[in-house]
Amino acid sequence: MHKLSGKRIFSGIQPTGIPHIGNYLGAIRHWVELQNANECLFCLVDMHAITVWQEPHLLKTQIIEQTAVLMACGIDPKKHILFNQSAVHAHARLAWIFNCVSRVGWMNRMTQFKDKAGKNREAYSAGLYVYPNLMAADILVYQATYVPVGEDQRQHIELTNDIAQKFNHDYKVDFFREVKGVIPEISARVMNLRDGSKKMSKSDPSEQGRITLLDTDDDIALKIRKAKSDAEPLPFEKNELDRRLEAKNLISMYSVLAQQPIENVLKDFGGKGFAALKLALTDIVIEIISPIRKETHHLLNDSQYILNILRSGAEKASAIANPIIEKVESLVGYVK
Ligand code: AMP
Ligand code: TRP
Repeated sequence: MHKLSGKRIFSGIQPTGIPHIGNYLGAIRHWVELQNANECLFCLVDMHAITVWQEPHLLKTQIIEQTAVLMACGIDPKKHILFNQSAVHAHARLAWIFNCVSRVGWMNRMTQFKDKAGKNREAYSAGLYVYPNLMAADILVYQATYVPVGEDQRQHIELTNDIAQKFNHDYKVDFFREVKGVIPEISARVMNLRDGSKKMSKSDPSEQGRITLLDTDDDIALKIRKAKSDAEPLPFEKNELDRRLEAKNLISMYSVLAQQPIENVLKDFGGKGFAALKLALTDIVIEIISPIRKETHHLLNDSQYILNILRSGAEKASAIANPIIEKVESLVGYVK
């Protein structure tokens, strides 16, 4: 599926809850594939996480848990680099410089801040406001060129390129190259099972709208059975899905997991009610998630092992990032 090879890949995920099937289909499964022919860095972005309040003991547990989930999904920390962001100080150092390169006007256009802060923006942290500058630093501090993410991160990747260009322009260098988002064609935006107009999200207070990678088989079956549907039979035509958000979401998930084009799925399920599709989807989701859940629990029996993985990941990441941040700081004019 991915033709990329020989590239440096970077991506991140917030350790703020258990990853869900949206994270898996939009991002993690592509990370796993990209490992075959590229040099990959995968980062638990704990500095991004604290832009909204996190209970300290819970944050620690979730970093460990999420590392285990990623390994259970197939991320290989021996061949690639798996680490937590705060352990590599170069991220914060470059983020500060980018806070000074980036413009307030650019931040004001970022939709994620508007979505999260809503009408109450005065009450949110300044960190949440400049979150996209830190994300740009995450990527560019490794001079990574490809970033596999879901659709919601497209605007942040564009901003990363704006910052890179402005840095090059201001300091009259050709230091940062263009970064490309790797965004899947299908399921780049998995929707909430109870509301097809809302993105499936870790932070949604209700668990019913998302399937997490640690859900039991029974949880999965129940959540899919209760997923919102509509009264019409499933369509035969793909373009009909655009006005049927819930049908589109379930069909898209099935299409990716069954590795069948949407047209074929509609050939099988068109004209039928939602029940048949939901049963088929349940089977295939359980087939994917059940081994991930079991392996995660197995890995979590030894949290020291996970901590060692993160520590060694941070060392490997620092070895790449340190010469780059040193160079940037010297371009900026810091005295060492
Ligand atoms: P987050 O959970 O926000 O840290 O996201 C981690 C990765 O999963 C990012 O690449 C997101 O774009 C992706 N992602 C998050 N939610 C979804 C979703 N509902 N559908 C598809 N991809 C998603
Ligand atoms: N902002 C991303 C999200 O919420 C997580 C993230 C942080 C990231 N830094 C990154 C993703 C760098 C890709 C590259 O999903």
